Amino acid sequence: MNNGNYNNRNNNNTNFGYEPEIKRRYTPEEVGHDKFRKPVTRQHRKRHRRINVGIVLITVVFAVIIGVCAYIITSGNRDDVVASINGETTKEELTTPIETEPPKEIKVTVTDEEMHMGNLILVNYAYPYAFAESETSQIVTVASAKNDNYLVRDNTIQLRKSTIEIFNGMMDDMFAATGFNSLQVNSAYRSYDDQVSTYEYYKNANGEQYAKDYVANPGHSEHHTGLALDLNVNRGGAISYVESDTDCEWFRNNCNNYGFILRYKPEKYYITATKGETWHYRYVGIPHAQIMTDLDLCLEEYTDYLKVYTTDTYVLTYDEGTINKVEYDPELDVDYMIYYVASQGEETVITVPNFAEYEISGNNVDGYVVTVSK
Ligand code: DAL
Ligand code: ZN
Repeated sequence: MNNGNYNNRNNNNTNFGYEPEIKRRYTPEEVGHDKFRKPVTRQHRKRHRRINVGIVLITVVFAVIIGVCAYIITSGNRDDVVASINGETTKEELTTPIETEPPKEIKVTVTDEEMHMGNLILVNYAYPYAFAESETSQIVTVASAKNDNYLVRDNTIQLRKSTIEIFNGMMDDMFAATGFNSLQVNSAYRSYDDQVSTYEYYKNANGEQYAKDYVANPGHSEHHTGLALDLNVNRGGAISYVESDTDCEWFRNNCNNYGFILRYKPEKYYITATKGETWHYRYVGIPHAQIMTDLDLCLEEYTDYLKVYTTDTYVLTYDEGTINKVEYDPELDVDYMIYYVASQGEETVITVPNFAEYEISGNNVDGYVVTVSK
């Protein structure tokens, strides 16, 4: 019977959401039984709407509760949120300042011109001197800057001022240790033209081969750098030589501790292409002079030797007089750390420790040498 079917459906709550939209005609009996009764389909819809409203209300309440909880939980990071939204963070914006460690290393950019400058430049038959204005402008007469603990041949002899100052300190210590003050600077800085004259002089006096063996071609002499000097001994009579004069023993044994090396040893002739010169000393700085002396390396050999020491792998250290190869660390606790950086062209970026003294010298060949000191 229609009515029975209808009631069954009416009691089946699970069908509310699927009540078909059928416009029914009601029988007279139905109307007579309950003429105020509304069609069941409308009742369903009304209940359905009430339930939907309820679900929405509950959802809104839950959403509000969850939102409040999330706010409370994340309020501690509020500053981060503000910073990231703004895309910029300043200390003033933050209620809790972020402590950042200063970098252990910094980057220094050097130019190709600087590769030809510095205490470690190799100047020889293959690598000419660049005569950088910033270096040649430091040349002064030795007489104007020397102290009383050594001699200079005449007032025309010149040298780089910084070289004279270091030499002065060494001569003070030598005089204090020995009482000897007759070491003499016989030749020092030479311009290009001076070297032309020097070469010609020895060629005329001793022959072409002698000049080739003992005098560098103009442009290729260490004497251009203001870092080299020829020494002898002048007691007012006959001139004697540093290599054999007994009063020069202190000098021979200690000059490396002041940064000077005997540049042309006879046995290195096949490398330097210069015959042994027991009078020619060259400033390279410490600890390089000590390392070269300890390892018996001439400057050509030392320039090559340093190239394996880089911040990518191992650096050379000199600590309490001991040479070592150590894995690179910008905070190495050693007296000196030395490494090579290959030239990158017009400009080279060099990494140096942020918290130590450092000096960069070109090698005049293909890169730079960094010397880090405590
Ligand atoms: N005597 C050295 C090699 C020079 O002339 O530079
Ligand atoms: Zn010389």
